[in-house]
Amino acid sequence: MNHVDIKAIAQKPEEYFDKKVTVCGWIKSYRDSKNMAFIALNDGTTLNHLQVVIDKNVLTEIPEGATRVGSSVKIEGTAVKSFNQNQAIEVNAQSITLLGDCPLDYPIQKAKTSLDYLRTLPHLRVRTNTFNAIFRVRSKLSFAIHRYFQERGYLYVHTPIITGSDCEGAGKIFKVTTIGYDAKYKSEAEYNADDFFGQSAGLTVSGQLEGEVMALAFGKIYTFGPTFRAENSNTTRHAAEFWQIEPEVAFAEIDDIIAIATEFIKYIIKAVLDECPDEIAFLERFYEKGLRAKLHKVVDDEFVKVDYTEAIDILKKSGKKFVYPVEWGNDLQTEHERYLTDEVYNKPVFVVNYPKEQKSFYMKQNPDGKTVAATDLLVPGVGEIIGCSEREADYNKLMQAIKDRGMKMSDYDNYMDLRKFGSVPHSGFGLGLERILMYATGMGNIRDTIIFPRAKGELR
Ligand code: 4AD
Ligand code: MG
Repeated sequence: MNHVDIKAIAQKPEEYFDKKVTVCGWIKSYRDSKNMAFIALNDGTTLNHLQVVIDKNVLTEIPEGATRVGSSVKIEGTAVKSFNQNQAIEVNAQSITLLGDCPLDYPIQKAKTSLDYLRTLPHLRVRTNTFNAIFRVRSKLSFAIHRYFQERGYLYVHTPIITGSDCEGAGKIFKVTTIGYDAKYKSEAEYNADDFFGQSAGLTVSGQLEGEVMALAFGKIYTFGPTFRAENSNTTRHAAEFWQIEPEVAFAEIDDIIAIATEFIKYIIKAVLDECPDEIAFLERFYEKGLRAKLHKVVDDEFVKVDYTEAIDILKKSGKKFVYPVEWGNDLQTEHERYLTDEVYNKPVFVVNYPKEQKSFYMKQNPDGKTVAATDLLVPGVGEIIGCSEREADYNKLMQAIKDRGMKMSDYDNYMDLRKFGSVPHSGFGLGLERILMYATGMGNIRDTIIFPRAKGELR
């Protein structure tokens, strides 16, 4: 249809003053008076609605449906300078065509738009201002992520979605199969052998292992794709399907990759501030007071780096009663992470050198024999957004780590070869896209950053 985006008009109003325009969109509000009517129109290209002014003496025929919230219309008219200080431009309508009527039982009405309620209507909530803002930030953020790596010569790689190995070894793999289990199979091995791949297969939890293969050929690579975890707990921070960004860098040790992660996070948060000012202002107004200042602080301030052992000390001395006990050797629970980020530092924190038992097999073992060169980046309000480590480059130590965890050695033959043929120090990290999006938009629930969220018992 021949029409102009509302964003184009809003961005350069002076180019449209006193010109004929055709705009399309959905009606966000309709205000009526004796001689005049006003439509707030939105076509999704911008958070800001366009005001359409109807002089009822000029436009005598208004289709009935075109007065209802949610209806879609095409409007022809003249763009004029607005005297309302909230907008630069408005359109005096000359004709209104109803494209799609929206009956009065349209469930997205102003009075009922809590996030909980909107979650029951994933296909319609995306038309609200809130989701207009969130998904635009998601798009800009994703593009900024690509730009960061592309500008620095990283290779973008697509790693497999179906995999035969468990990168994290956490047993959260969704099984991929074409046949049901049947009494005719005498063992699981026999069942798997009969299945599509002739072995057990699952959806990937991480592209890292294949990312390492590519990094040891191309030097600097990144992945950006969907990953899957059968998370049994229903939390506000875990999804069964989420997007992960995983750079992998050859000739980089743990401090090098921490420096890269820091620069990267600052870069993408700055991009959101620069490219989504209206969205951030909206989200600040309705969801998180101080959001903009918080994001500016991420760009401007240094991140904290604290040793796991010291973090345990701080937690022990805090005098706080935690549900999970604070002991050297235990994993940090959300409540511990939140205490460190929200109460002690109030900014992003790298916790480094975790006990090796708490972490994955591939992480480089430190000379102390107890810890690994791994770090999580924690941020206030959300907790962990990045999992990061230097990889174990020593053949024998890696083999031992796989054995110690009772993992199947034959699943990692390719991976072991990387340590056999031209092994190099290398490091990488994984950023959860939805986690950083929660942080950047002030959303408290990961379900509000994904169009159709997948979680235990949730699939629509
Ligand atoms: O810490 P994780 O498990 O690390 C890895 O997967 C490594 N292979 C990454 C690497 O070094 N290449 O996950 C990385 C990040 C987490 O910090 C978190 O942001 C996100 O992925 N994440 C999830 N996001 C949403 N829902 C879930 N269930 C998530 N699990 C992890
Ligand atoms: Mg992690």
